[in-house]
Amino acid sequence: MSDFKKVRALTGMKDALPPESVQWEALEAIVRDWLAAYGYQNLRTPVLEHTRLFARGIGEVTDIVEKEMYSFVDPLNDERLTLRPEFTAGMVRAVIEHNVLYDRPRRVYALGPVFRHERPQRGRYRQFHQIDVEALGFPGPDVDAELIVMLSRLWRRLGLDDIRLEINSLGQAAERAAHRAALIEHLQRHVDVLDDEARRRMHSNPLRVLDTKNPAMQDMANSAPRLFDFLGEESLAHYRGLCARLEDAGITYTLNPRLVRGLDYYNLTVFEWVTDRLGAQGTVCGGGRYDGLIELLGGKPAPAVGFAIGMERLLDLWSQKDQYAHPAECQVYVAHQGEDGQRRAASLAEALRDAGLRVLVHAGSTGFKSQFRRADASGAAVAVVVGGDELASGRATVKWLRRGAPEGEQQESIPFDRLAEELQSRI
Ligand code: HAM
Repeated sequence: MSDFKKVRALTGMKDALPPESVQWEALEAIVRDWLAAYGYQNLRTPVLEHTRLFARGIGEVTDIVEKEMYSFVDPLNDERLTLRPEFTAGMVRAVIEHNVLYDRPRRVYALGPVFRHERPQRGRYRQFHQIDVEALGFPGPDVDAELIVMLSRLWRRLGLDDIRLEINSLGQAAERAAHRAALIEHLQRHVDVLDDEARRRMHSNPLRVLDTKNPAMQDMANSAPRLFDFLGEESLAHYRGLCARLEDAGITYTLNPRLVRGLDYYNLTVFEWVTDRLGAQGTVCGGGRYDGLIELLGGKPAPAVGFAIGMERLLDLWSQKDQYAHPAECQVYVAHQGEDGQRRAASLAEALRDAGLRVLVHAGSTGFKSQFRRADASGAAVAVVVGGDELASGRATVKWLRRGAPEGEQQESIPFDRLAEELQSRI
């Protein structure tokens, strides 16, 4: 025994093993098909970025930037770096850096791990995965609606029928400034019920104070002036334009005037899809419009809107629906006996793979009984046997493990050179 102390995965960071990992891949395949149906193209950015990108993009006074980022100083050149806590800021950086919006708007997506140092619980991890979708250069509200319609198509495709949509409008900067002044006044009037965090944020980010879970602050939050009541005609028209299109598509939504989201870049449309099936972490998807971010990060001003889905949460919901049948490890399991049998089995398997079949060749030399047990456990439709008799006759014995056998038979004998063709047409 080695004296090496066993290494475990970090808290809040999960391994995905088969068959769960097989379901991950199946979900990713469905997601890519769905994105392609709306003309979205993949944009890949690095996992690591300059810290100031996120501080500027997401906002200095947000939970993410204040306490959740994995940041460190690169000792080689003294740069402050951060593992991405979300995709949007990095994607906008890439779009500016490569001048992607020079001639036309773009629809892009990314899929992969993001990192937030939160307290782990069901549905909340420190490394998790997002499906991030961004429509860049579109003023909306048609594209805002299209994104939401698109999401409801994905829920349908996965058989998820109990996710509800909440929307709100955060208006424009001037409207938020007027609301902010009224809100600070309200907070000052109720300063005695504010907790420490709320007092600290009262001036720097008063809107986030209303997002509190503190029961002692609920009355104060409920009676606070609503941003929605400060919206001017243009913002309201944008909001109504979105609502009309959602109604056209038959999508039910509720206006939640308290919905502010945890990132500072939003204006006008914000939305979340929420479910009761995931315990405390019920938000499956969040997003909204961020018309100021491209300029804020140094680009030529352009409107934009997008969302991100938490993949762990989506997978949890999908598994609950039990609609997913785990595919077998292989379609054909090749059993063999003796060295000659093993070598013939290996070349036969290659021919079967040429025909597009998924094939496992038994490794090592064990008795047929244990090989058939393995064949069965693999989920294969057939076991192909290559033993002494088969080598002598030039015909493989095919044992049907599940379906496809000729009536009344479980077993048949097929010449080696016709095997690929026969199995391909019957599996
Ligand atoms: P977000 O609301 O911070 O938005 O995250 C989006 C989704 O990621 C959440 O709705 C949730 O499903 C999932 N999520 C967040 N934190 C965790 C966690 N610790 N563990 C597991 N899942 C989590 C954004 O990130 C924005 N960038 C979305 C966006 C894109 N807005 C415009 N474009």
